[in-house]
Amino acid sequence: MAERVAASLLRAASPSPAPSPSARRATAATSVSFPSSCSARLGLRSRPSSRFSQNAATGGRGALRVVRCMAASDPAQVKSAREDIKELLKTTYSHPIMVRLGWHDSGTYDKNIKEWPQCGGADGSLRFDAELKHGANAGLINALKLIQPIKDKYPGITYADLFQLASATAIEEAGGPKIPMKYGRVDVTAPAQCPPEGRLPDASPRDPAEHLREVFYRMGLDDKDIVALSGAHTLGRSRPDRSGWGKPETKYTKDGPGEPGGQSWTVEWLKFDNSYFKDIKERRDQDLLVLPTDAALYEDPSFAVYAEKYAEDQEAFFKDYAEAHAKLSNLGAKFDPPEGFSLEDEKKEEPEPTPEPAVAAAAAPPPPPTPTPTPEPEPAAAPASAPEPVAAAVATATAEEKNGAAPQPEPFVAAKYSYGKKELSDSMKQKIRAEYEGFGGSPDKPLQSNYFLNIMIVIAGLAFLTSLVMN
Ligand code: HEM
Repeated sequence: MAERVAASLLRAASPSPAPSPSARRATAATSVSFPSSCSARLGLRSRPSSRFSQNAATGGRGALRVVRCMAASDPAQVKSAREDIKELLKTTYSHPIMVRLGWHDSGTYDKNIKEWPQCGGADGSLRFDAELKHGANAGLINALKLIQPIKDKYPGITYADLFQLASATAIEEAGGPKIPMKYGRVDVTAPAQCPPEGRLPDASPRDPAEHLREVFYRMGLDDKDIVALSGAHTLGRSRPDRSGWGKPETKYTKDGPGEPGGQSWTVEWLKFDNSYFKDIKERRDQDLLVLPTDAALYEDPSFAVYAEKYAEDQEAFFKDYAEAHAKLSNLGAKFDPPEGFSLEDEKKEEPEPTPEPAVAAAAAPPPPPTPTPTPEPEPAAAPASAPEPVAAAVATATAEEKNGAAPQPEPFVAAKYSYGKKELSDSMKQKIRAEYEGFGGSPDKPLQSNYFLNIMIVIAGLAFLTSLVMN
């Protein structure tokens, strides 16, 4: 009952009302290019709206049978949600965590497993507490919290699509390339369908290059994809209290925007460009992060070809990144309809020739302080006075020692594994569980937002107060 009232409230209050399945299907047909497979398969006209009006004309009782042919997500709602995501990004500077959200949902894919959803991938499983608690996903509950109100507003979109939509939109809004996305991903429905822990890459394996290949080849991706996708670290920060990596804060992160702190790979960490490849090559700035797996991009000869190219040529990086990101976003996805669907405007637009990011300027962090030769006091986690070899350099040294070559540790201490955290502590898992339940999730069920229940409570309260005043 409460759900029905909430649903009617939603219809009344939503600025883009289309929650009823038939209305959703009808609007979808007007604004997007919808693959013809459904209608072709069923011998229907290509404009679903007409078949619904035919049905309406017969009052649902005539000779025409209503044939349900609905994508996993409603294309019109995907389009509207994209606008909401743009607003969310502008106000919360959450571009990086949205990219990470999309990547961690899809990056669990295993091409050797043929059954869905056991193969993992972009199936929305990351919305479940069971998967959010995987060590690699520390902090992603925050992304889910941000995006859940958009899911509530657009119930005709699957989580799997929403995560990928948010990620691709974040890249584009940060000044990155247009990603040739398609939508229609089906969601898994229960936590038991989550992939096992351990499918995402580790930042500090014994042999980073080998490890990256093992993980990304398992997804069906290649060396070019590995290097291009690693370039997503041009955005965002690493936080010791989440992954265990990075400094608690640096001169580039101490004032935000967004929640301050962490260590970024680049100076302008809300701007998508090729500075990641330049910065991890130069390694001049102690305040910038280089993970062992980032360092591997220049240490491995095959990776280095691409890393060098992207450092020199942003256009080449954007092109390869867009392709690799699209591939990543489709991994393991079951599409309904099977070909997925594109948003029409994305089809029409010409590929952009690596523009100077304009939108990112609004979202970019305040201009970085001019680097000063005076050494800054280092945070406790990485004292400048103790020039330990960077973790990346240690890993390299191990590899070189194996080959008999002399290790060449660099006096660069940016990447530091703060406290050897591999798995989330029990208290952190409990905290995630509490937060998850706090906004309507339950460990055993998909998220159910209590947003509309709250509205109803407020309305009931107001009605009560009014009746008191009137009396
Ligand atoms: C190549 C193997 C990779 C490793 C070992 C790795 C590791 C990490 C780590 C340790 C963090 C810090 C998380 C935190 O403390 O909050 C991080 C953040 C991030 N990663 Fe990766 N990552 C990899 C690949 C990727 C890929 C393929 C993408 C996207 C296509 C990506 C996108 C990001 C983004 C955007 C952030 C910043 C998140 C934020 O600021 O909240 N990473 N990654």
